[in-house]
Amino acid sequence: MANGIVVFCFLALTFRAYLVVASDPKPLQDFCVADPTSSARVNGVPCKDPLLAQATDFAFSGLHIAGNTSNPVGSKVTPVGITQLPGLNTLGISLVRIDYAPWGINPPHTHPRATEVITVLEGSLFVGFVTSNPDNRLISKVIYKGDVFVFPIGLVHFQQNVGNVKAVAIAGLSSQNPGVIPIANTVFGSNPSIGNDVLAKAFQVDKTIIDQIQGKF
Ligand SMILES: *[C@@H]1O[C@H](CO)[C@@H](O)[C@H](O)[C@H]1NC(C)=O
Repeated sequence: MANGIVVFCFLALTFRAYLVVASDPKPLQDFCVADPTSSARVNGVPCKDPLLAQATDFAFSGLHIAGNTSNPVGSKVTPVGITQLPGLNTLGISLVRIDYAPWGINPPHTHPRATEVITVLEGSLFVGFVTSNPDNRLISKVIYKGDVFVFPIGLVHFQQNVGNVKAVAIAGLSSQNPGVIPIANTVFGSNPSIGNDVLAKAFQVDKTIIDQIQGKF
């Protein structure tokens, strides 16, 4: 009996912890249209007066427009988060369009606050994520038009267009503000930079190689 209560409490606590970390906090009102002009500091963005909310606060146009992929990685993410769609504030969800030039990549990165589910509209993508320590297993697959793949919250993931034509994807994220941590930019392009002695030892290469990579970010 006592054991049963202990197990129940353990499960209840575990489930509660899971709810806390798996998505944004749930709203306590119908909506909270973001008011970026407010100087209040809260976990999220303060709400504008609900009586002043308009349909335009809940709408965004332009996701049919292809992003410009003329850059070194050959991809462009067009986000629809609270900045673009203020009505998303507190709702725990957002969207992106990703365009890929032929053989373009969306480089390895992670979203600290969101799981991402992606679907291919055009072309074919090699997609993958890497599990955390100690396995660091790459779970990857080529996906085609109409296919869906999920990148679990926090894990490093990437996409590569594996075709000679452009590719387009749409992805949903389980946060109004998923955040993005591109591995290369954060490690080699921080400001101020992480010392090349630290990175040379971390990556087990010569400092000149680190200097060369840092020069690109
Ligand atoms: C795309 O980006 C490149 C590089 O920044 C720029 O030169 C080019 O004009 C852009 N193309 C369009 C259509 O905006």
